[in-house]
Amino acid sequence: MMNRYDSDADMTGQLTTGTGYLMNQNIRLKNPTEMTSLEGRVAFVTGAGSGIGRAGACAMARCGAHVVVTDRDGGLASAVADEIIAEGLQCSARQLDVGNDDALVEAIDDTVVQYGRLDILHSHAGLQIEGPLEQVSTEDMDASWALNVRAHFVAAQAAVAPMKRQGGGSIIITASNSGIQYDREMIAYSTTKHSAVSMTRQMAADYAKDNIRFNALCPGFVDTPFNAGFEVQMGGRSGLEKYISENIPMARFGTPGEIADAIVFLASDMSTFVTGHALVIDGGECI
Ligand SMILES: NC(=O)c1ccc[n+]([C@@H]2O[C@H](COP(=O)([O-])OP(=O)(O)OC[C@H]3O[C@@H](n4cnc5c(N)ncnc54)[C@H](O)[C@@H]3O)[C@@H](O)[C@H]2O)c1
Repeated sequence: MMNRYDSDADMTGQLTTGTGYLMNQNIRLKNPTEMTSLEGRVAFVTGAGSGIGRAGACAMARCGAHVVVTDRDGGLASAVADEIIAEGLQCSARQLDVGNDDALVEAIDDTVVQYGRLDILHSHAGLQIEGPLEQVSTEDMDASWALNVRAHFVAAQAAVAPMKRQGGGSIIITASNSGIQYDREMIAYSTTKHSAVSMTRQMAADYAKDNIRFNALCPGFVDTPFNAGFEVQMGGRSGLEKYISENIPMARFGTPGEIADAIVFLASDMSTFVTGHALVIDGGECI
């Protein structure tokens, strides 16, 4: 059976192969604007006050979603919401530390009560503790686990019930390309990010029948305040930039906007058959 993208179809819906063989299938013609539309959908984002979470929240709002922007820093969450509302888009803000199980579940439950549904959960907040085995304390390992694995588990658990009721949804869990490859001297980060990817894949398998898609977002170096710890390891900003130019095949950082494109892809009908995937966006670092 041929596996071709819908965009190979001509305007009559017919698919022409390289051999000239014409397959007249019932092809869904894709209009990119229509397929990325999130009109009428409700999205909930954690760690959305800065960086990638902020960019994804803004992008989803521009595609028509009502976005609930949450962050441990309530001021940052409000500033992002103000920015989105200033564009005439729909948004609300909430202070939320994902390390607090009760607050996390309550925030997701409140979203469903207030807006009537939950279509997209982007569980994004995370923690990077640098260092090799002998330098990372058990407390720091536990803290990494709490944010990078446990909080995603708690958030996803709260999201599946309303998603089941409404017939589906998209859950995006931010891992990292450190969940695919191994870093240098990042035992707590790399271990917990690998766990986030495995957990996402397990949940994808368990909830595929409910039309709830689970995918892991795996960025490489994206220029946000999140890299402060690694910057210290590299001996400052110039050391970090040197590392990037020498170790990333594309020789540059990614931008939050480039990761937001992937978030819209995973959140929208562009990816209706994509689940259990770890989407690496890293300028070739993992190659
Ligand atoms: N930036 C990168 O290079 C990169 C690469 C791979 C993965 N990631 C992942 O992306 C996520 C964050 O990266 P970013 O670039 O958006 O960072 P960022 O520092 O720009 O933003 C992180 C946001 O999360 C918030 N936050 C921190 N702890 C929180 C908590 N306990 N509860 C709620 N909010 C909290 C912060 O206040 C901040 O607004 C992490 O999961 C990280 O592992 C980042």
